[in-house]
Amino acid sequence: MTDIRKIKRDFPVFIHNPGLVYLDSAATSLKPQSVIDKLAEYYTKYPANIHRGIYRISEKATEEYEKSRIAVMEFVNARRFEEIIFTRNTTESINLIAYSLGRQIVGADDEIVTTVMEHHSNFVPWQVLADEAGAVFKVVDINGDGCLDVNTSNLAGIITKRTKILALAYVSNVLGTVNPVKKIIRAAKKINPKIITVVDAAQAVPHMPVDVRDLGCDFLAFSGHKMLGPTGIGVLYGRYDLLNSMFPFNFGGGMIKEVTIEKTEFPPPPARFEAGTPAIAEAIGLGEAIKYLQTTGMDKIAAYEKKLTAYAIKHLIESFGADIRVLGPKTADNRVGVLTFAFKNYHPHDIAHILGEENICIRAGHHCAMPVHNRFGLAASARMSLYLYNDYYDIDKLIDGLKKVKKILK
Ligand code: ALA
Repeated sequence: MTDIRKIKRDFPVFIHNPGLVYLDSAATSLKPQSVIDKLAEYYTKYPANIHRGIYRISEKATEEYEKSRIAVMEFVNARRFEEIIFTRNTTESINLIAYSLGRQIVGADDEIVTTVMEHHSNFVPWQVLADEAGAVFKVVDINGDGCLDVNTSNLAGIITKRTKILALAYVSNVLGTVNPVKKIIRAAKKINPKIITVVDAAQAVPHMPVDVRDLGCDFLAFSGHKMLGPTGIGVLYGRYDLLNSMFPFNFGGGMIKEVTIEKTEFPPPPARFEAGTPAIAEAIGLGEAIKYLQTTGMDKIAAYEKKLTAYAIKHLIESFGADIRVLGPKTADNRVGVLTFAFKNYHPHDIAHILGEENICIRAGHHCAMPVHNRFGLAASARMSLYLYNDYYDIDKLIDGLKKVKKILK
C-alpha cells in the first residue's frame, strides 16, 4: 500500500491531536482532507437544493449529487444507478426494507431468519416486524470461534419455503468475522427461490472489495461515515425490480409524480425513496471518500489490514495470555481488524478510560450487539478496530496501554 506516513498526512485529525492512536474505526472512521474540502466546496460554491432549481448552482449541486450515486453504483458493482438509494445510515436503510417490503410480504406463520451476531440495526427491525406480523423469528447461532453455525448442509433445517427474509451481516462489528455470505445466499435461494436476502455490509464495504452482483444479494446496506465519508449519509442497494415493486417508506417532497386531492402517484426509484431534501453535501462527500478508497485500492487496504490484524491478535495473546479473552476467529483469515476482547477482572469501561487518558481510542460496551454478548456470557467488552491509517506502532501503543491498565487496576 502507499506509504502509511503519507496516508496519515491525509487525515488532519493527526495534526490537531499529536500522538493520537485511533482504534475505533468500526464506530466511525476519520476523514481525509479531500472529503472535508469537498463538503466545503459544496457549501461555498454551489450550496443550492437539488432536482428543483433551474439555475446554475442548483444544476451543479444536482450533477455532483448524482455523480456520487454513480460512484457508489460502480463501487459495489450495481447494475444501474437507480439501484442506489441514499439514506441516513445503515440503520435507516434496513428499516426502509423492513417497513416497505417487509410489511408487504411477511404474514402470520412466515419466517424471518437472522443471526445472533447481528448489530441491533439488523436484528431489532426484523424482531419487531416478526412480532407485528405473527411471524417466526429464527436466530442462527455461532460457534465458540464466532463463526456462523450454518453451512450449506444444515441450511435446509433453517431456511424453508416459509422464510420470507434472510438478514445477515457480511462482517460482524463485534467478532470481525467475515461470513460466507455468497455461499449462504446461493444455498438459501436454492431452498427457497423467493427468499429476500438483506446484507448488512456496514463493516465490510469500508474494508474490502464488495460486489453485489457476485454476492447475489437482493439488498445491501452501508454507512458513509465508516468509510471515510461524512456522517448522515447511508446507502441502500436494492435489486431494481424489487425496489420498483415497493411502496415508499417516507412521504413528502421530492418523491411524488403527481398529487391531487384524490390521490398521489409515486415516481420510480431512487426518487421514490428519497423524500425531502436529502443530505446533499454528505452524499457529495461520500463520492469523494470513494475516490480516496479507490485511489488507494480496496485490495491493498484489505491486505494491509489483514497484516495488522494478524500482528494485533498475536501480540494481544502473547502479551496477556490467559488473562485476555479475544472474541471471534483467532487468525486473520476470514476476519477483519475488529478485535474485541475482555479481561476477567477489569471492566471494559475502566480499560477504555485509562487508554483514553493515553490518547488511545477504543470502544467499550456492547457495541449495539447485545445478543452476541449474551451468547458469550458477557455484559460488555472492549473493542479495537483498525483502518488504513493505522500502523504497527498503534498496536504497540495499545499493548503498552493495556499493560498500564493491568498495573493500575491490579
Ligand atoms: N455500529 C457502530 C459500532 O459498531 C457504531 O461501533
